[in-house]
Amino acid sequence: MSRIEPVDSAEVHILVDNVTDSLSSVPAFVETEFAGLNRRRQDHWVLGGNCLCCAAHGLSCLITLRRGGETKTLLFDTGPEDRVFEQNVSRLGADLGPVEAIVLSHGHWDHGGAMLQALQMIRDRNGGKRVPYYAHPDMFRKRALKMANGTMRPVEDVPGIEALTDQGADVVNTTEAKSLFGGMAYVSGEIPRVTGFERGLPGQHRLTLDGKGWELDELTMDERFVAVNVKGKGLIVFTACSHAGVVNVLKHAKASFPDVPLYAVAGGLHLSGTNERIIPETVAGLRDFGLSVIAPGHCTGWRAITALVREFGEKILVPLAVGKRYSF
Ligand SMILES: [Fe+2]
Repeated sequence: MSRIEPVDSAEVHILVDNVTDSLSSVPAFVETEFAGLNRRRQDHWVLGGNCLCCAAHGLSCLITLRRGGETKTLLFDTGPEDRVFEQNVSRLGADLGPVEAIVLSHGHWDHGGAMLQALQMIRDRNGGKRVPYYAHPDMFRKRALKMANGTMRPVEDVPGIEALTDQGADVVNTTEAKSLFGGMAYVSGEIPRVTGFERGLPGQHRLTLDGKGWELDELTMDERFVAVNVKGKGLIVFTACSHAGVVNVLKHAKASFPDVPLYAVAGGLHLSGTNERIIPETVAGLRDFGLSVIAPGHCTGWRAITALVREFGEKILVPLAVGKRYSF
């Protein structure tokens, strides 16, 4: 039986996303990047490119949980590379010192590309303490995408266990689900594939264990979600890239916590590129969950966002953008 304890509140700061958008109006529980600058710096800033975040292909979320007098902070992914991560964290004034756990959602560069930089920045601010780092063994396999002409396009590895350990991570390398912070947050185990239409990432391969060739790896079974349970609301599910398929993700979240209502899903829904063909089934599949908030970002794609808005309306759809802060 999975364990998740209710928290009083959860705040999610988007450190990296594919999109920048401070101008579109937002509901009261969301603050844009510009509004955050206004709040933090009051009158003492000049709007211009040198104080703003960069959008980049990837995702990174800083999740802060509060219960009573206790605060726990989790870094979920880092986006694709050091420079954007460092710049966005510093321009957002985000303090990484309180980060007590890192979760890498799956072994792709657009989520784990800045992990060594993140560890450095966390430990610069926490007095050099080591940081638990939750990973799955398959994240560290070498991967490639098969091109239309049959050639293999290698994709950058995420930092390996040795490099992470040298940089101050205590790597928890497991296929199993884990409760973090005494149950205040939860990292799933492998996500069962139960829908017929969610088939993963077409063309993805990984190097065989003997290193001699490539094997098909379209399911990306190393991907996991993070969930938190906010008192009076319910489960918030963070799914970084949804290679499992967001309907599979939410079915597994619901099965893991049958007594907790689903409240929100946030992250990349991977309904772009070849996965545009499963937008209709995905939108239909999402109807069953009664979500109050859908916060799509990163790899979701504009066609899927348009379809989701048509189905669920602007009250429920609150797309991610870099620098946005969600307070649940
Ligand atoms: Fe991704």
